[in-house]
This record gives sequence, C-alpha cells and structure tokens, in this order.
Amino acid sequence: MSKFYSLLNYGCQMNESDGEHYSGQLQELGYQYVADFHKADFILVNTCCVRESAEKRIAGKIGELKAVKVANPQVIIAVAGCMAQKEGDKLLQKYPQIDLVLGTSYVDDFKNILANYRRRAAFLDLTVRPKEFEGTKVRKSSFHAWIPIMYGCNNFCTYCIVPYVRGRERSRKKENILAEVRQGVSQGYKEFTLLGQNVDSYGKEFGVPDAFADLLLAVDAIPGVERLHYMTSHPRDISDAVIGAVAKGRHISEHFHLPVQSGSNEILRRMNRGYTREHYLELIRKIRLAVPQAVITTDIIVGFPGETEEDFQGTLDLVQEVGFDSAFTFIYSKRSGTPAAKMENQIPLDVKKQRLQRLMDLENINSLACNEKMVGREYSVFAEGPTKNRDIWSGRTSGNKLVLWPVEGRAYKQGDEVQVLVEKAQTWLVKGRAKQ
Ligand code: 5AD
Ligand code: SF4
Repeated sequence: MSKFYSLLNYGCQMNESDGEHYSGQLQELGYQYVADFHKADFILVNTCCVRESAEKRIAGKIGELKAVKVANPQVIIAVAGCMAQKEGDKLLQKYPQIDLVLGTSYVDDFKNILANYRRRAAFLDLTVRPKEFEGTKVRKSSFHAWIPIMYGCNNFCTYCIVPYVRGRERSRKKENILAEVRQGVSQGYKEFTLLGQNVDSYGKEFGVPDAFADLLLAVDAIPGVERLHYMTSHPRDISDAVIGAVAKGRHISEHFHLPVQSGSNEILRRMNRGYTREHYLELIRKIRLAVPQAVITTDIIVGFPGETEEDFQGTLDLVQEVGFDSAFTFIYSKRSGTPAAKMENQIPLDVKKQRLQRLMDLENINSLACNEKMVGREYSVFAEGPTKNRDIWSGRTSGNKLVLWPVEGRAYKQGDEVQVLVEKAQTWLVKGRAKQ
C-alpha cells in the first residue's frame, strides 16, 4: 500500500531548499507527495521564526493538526526548521500531536532518523555538522534549482534570531557544490541559486581568498548553467571580486540583493551591521559603475528599538537616493534571546505601522519608476507558468523582474526562454508581448 507525505513549508529560500531535500528523502523511503495533509501518513512542518508573525501563523497550523492526529492516530507529525530549533522539546510538551522535533542540523540525516523512528523525540544538537549532500532532492521547479553553499551565520545582528537557530557558519566543499550543479544540469535544470545566510563568507574556513567570487565563476563556467543567482550578500562583506565576477560572468544575474536594514548610522551601529550609510551608498555607486543594468533590491526594518523620527528620515532619504527596484520592508519584531529584545525604547506598534506605511508609499513610487525604465526594451524571460488567467503567462528576467505576457495561441512550458518586449510597467511587475 502506498504511503503519503505532506510538506508544509514556511520561511526563506533556505527552508525551501531544505524542504526539497526532506521531500527527496521521504520519496526514497517510499512516500508519495499529497497536497492535502488530511490524507497524509507523514506530515512535515518546516518552520521559520524570523518574526513573531511567522511563528504565530505556524503555531495556528500546528494547532489545526491536532484534529488530524485525533482522526488518525497513526499519522506521524514532524516539526523541523528554525522554530523547531528555537522551541525544542517544549513543542513536544505543549502539543501532544507532535511526534518528532528536528533541529536545523539534521536535514541530511532525516532519512536515518525516520527509518529508525520508534517514539516521540527531539533532535536539537546545533553542533552536528550536516553531512554533505547525498541522495535525491525533489525540486518544485522543473528548471530552477536551489543549491545551498553554506549553513549558519556568524554575524549576530542584534535583532536577528538566525545565528541562534542555524548555528555557526559552515561552508560546503566546492567540489560537492559543483557536483550538485552538474547533476542538476544533467537532470534538465538550467537556472541555479546559490544559497547561504551570508554568501560572502563562503569558504572563509578554507582560508582561500575570494572563495565566493571564485565559486560563482566556477559555477558560471559549467556548460548548461544558463542563469545563476545567489542569496544573500552582506553590504559589509561583498567584495570587489564578487562585483567583478557579476560584471564579467556569462550568466550571473545582474541582480544585487543587499539588505540595508536602516539608513541611520546610529541604528546601523546598534544593529551591529558593521557598515555606515556612506559605505552602503559608495557600494551602490561601485555596483552601478561595474554593472550599469544592475537591479538592486533590499530589506529594511522599521521601528528598531530607539529609532527616532530623524533616524527613520535617514532611511527614507537613503531609499530615495538609491532608488531600489524593490524593497522587502518589515516591522521590527522582538525576538527573545537577541540583544535588541532587551534594548530600551521599544517603539510602539502604531508608530511602527505608520513608518512602514510611509516607507512602502515611497518605495512603491520608486519601484514603478524603475519598472517604467524597462518599457520599450526586450528581455529574455524564463517562463514559470500561467497566471490565474490561463491566457497570460508569467516569468522572470535575469534580473529577477516579474513579467506577464499573453499566450496568443502559443503553447509554453515551464522553463521556456521567451523574448518579451515590455509595454507597460506596474509597481510589482511589467507586462509585455512575446516576440514570435
Ligand atoms: N524583525 C523584523 N525583521 C527582521 N528581519 C530579521 N530579523 C528581524 C526581526 N527581528 C528581516 C531582515 C532580514 C530579513 C530576512 O528579515 O530585514 O534581512
Ligand atoms: Fe529562514 Fe531565518 Fe526563517 Fe530560519 S528564521 S527559515 S533562516 S528566514
């Protein structure tokens, strides 16, 4: 009889990537995927805890699973990922429906753990070195593959929980990364994203200078790699060598995602970001000089403890000066255990919400202005799939811009490369027509 698994994935791209590896191992154990978790024999909740809102959403979902367990006591429910690491065996006590808690270091050992599963347990040791990639990954996309290159983070930004739940930085060996990319190419993948919490630190423990820039160029040189992205860079650490690699690479996306977090030097200092707004602006100038077509995006937090109206104005000024293509904007969320949670002058929620709105209003104008510059130009787009209106397809440019175009009788499939002439810009996307 077939066994079925369901995967409920939350959080960032690293979690997406971990989810693909969990899926691969479940399939190796004979499980088949089912979207409806009520029909599953095994339910994996892969969690995030970067903000309280994520945790609340996930706690709600875990609550929902209680009825599933009552209806089918045989179902195994596992909670993995960052919130599992943070909450640990407390989860087993609080939720009788949970059978297994898996910290972030056990992704590659999951199959083993599951094969030997006998009773409720938590696996939480953060010092376990994840084994190097082995086995299959079941990838969501048929043409794009996530490739983790390093795990963990040593930055300790004062607001951030990640270093506590993902442990210290560990880089994968270059030859294993290249092997995974080659394997991906042989399976038909052509677009790759190298993943790490802080990719500029890649290879530091190997003592090789410019290891990340090197890796980028080495992956770029693999025949069959048609597009190459990476996430996430740190404005303190991104090197001239990396900017140079993007400029000279054949298929490296000209997209720079550089989380600035704040435009106030005082706030940046208290966030422990290790750079100033002047450094950041200089970096943007350098990038624009080396890569004139660069698409530049960022992350910004509003309402960090002690953020004054003047500090916030500094953020607005910086956003205006850079003219980001887009920005992920967040209300500061207090994460217990981080230094910022204990800082004085926590900002009231209504002030945070107001600042977020003002920031989004400004960024929306800038995003639209950036997208308007695309009008009249032609872009190579990798087709991702139809929109709700099945006569309109969507896909992305090499700079990661979302593009919509009408099918007009043509039969597309995921991963097709389509030349699209952009005709209209909106805040979040552009619309155009495919060239025949
Ligand atoms: N509150 C709000 N936003 C946060 N981020 C990280 N930690 C917090 C927090 N405690 C944001 C940062 C980071 C992005 C992934 O999430 O902007 O770049
Ligand atoms: Fe990703 Fe951070 Fe959320 Fe973990 S806590 S899933 S690393 S965003």
